[in-house]
Amino acid sequence: MTLFLVLALYVLLILIWLVCFFFLLLMSYGIITTKVPYVPIPQHVIDEVTRLLPMKAGDQFYDLGSGDGRVIATMASAYPEAFATGVEKAPLPYTLTQIRFWRKPLKNVKTLFRNFSRVPLNNATHIYMYLFPEVVEKLLPKFEAELKKGIRVVSCDFPFKTKEPIETVVVSGRHKHTLYVYEF
Ligand SMILES: C[S@@+](CC[C@H](N)C(=O)[O-])C[C@H]1O[C@@H](n2cnc3c(N)ncnc32)[C@H](O)[C@@H]1O
Repeated sequence: MTLFLVLALYVLLILIWLVCFFFLLLMSYGIITTKVPYVPIPQHVIDEVTRLLPMKAGDQFYDLGSGDGRVIATMASAYPEAFATGVEKAPLPYTLTQIRFWRKPLKNVKTLFRNFSRVPLNNATHIYMYLFPEVVEKLLPKFEAELKKGIRVVSCDFPFKTKEPIETVVVSGRHKHTLYVYEF
């Protein structure tokens, strides 16, 4: 009996070790391929994004690098007549997104397992992103080429170097976050 318990414990420890190893492997793969780590923004900051990006029926919201899908879930619930698309390239956050919408489906949400630089944005009416400065900078020519006039973009924490925001909102909390609002 004691031998059986020791063996069972041994197998359990190996399983836990394998799960942790696989999790770290997926995390590292995501960071290496996207160069931006998966860092979810707190819910109270997302609530501020919903206020800064009011949507009407038929509008199309995109979260570029949508992580675990919390931002698109909040936007789709806040504006049920509009649509929210999340684009995510890293397997771990994308899997978390799939689990989220499997547990609580939303009709007006779409998720793409893709590099956002390959996703056409000409139907976008509202865009949000929480990325790194060099990635934000690379998106500017894409936005200028593809976005219709008057489209609102919110960038969390990292502004464009060469474009002035129309509004800047500091959201306080345990970690301070700044939302830069742009109009194209
Ligand atoms: C800081 S997290 C933000 C997650 C979510 N948008 C939020 O605000 O909570 C950035 C996410 O962007 C994803 N990402 C970075 N570059 C990407 C790319 N080129 N295409 C798709 N996703 C990308 C990363 O994998 C990561 O999950």
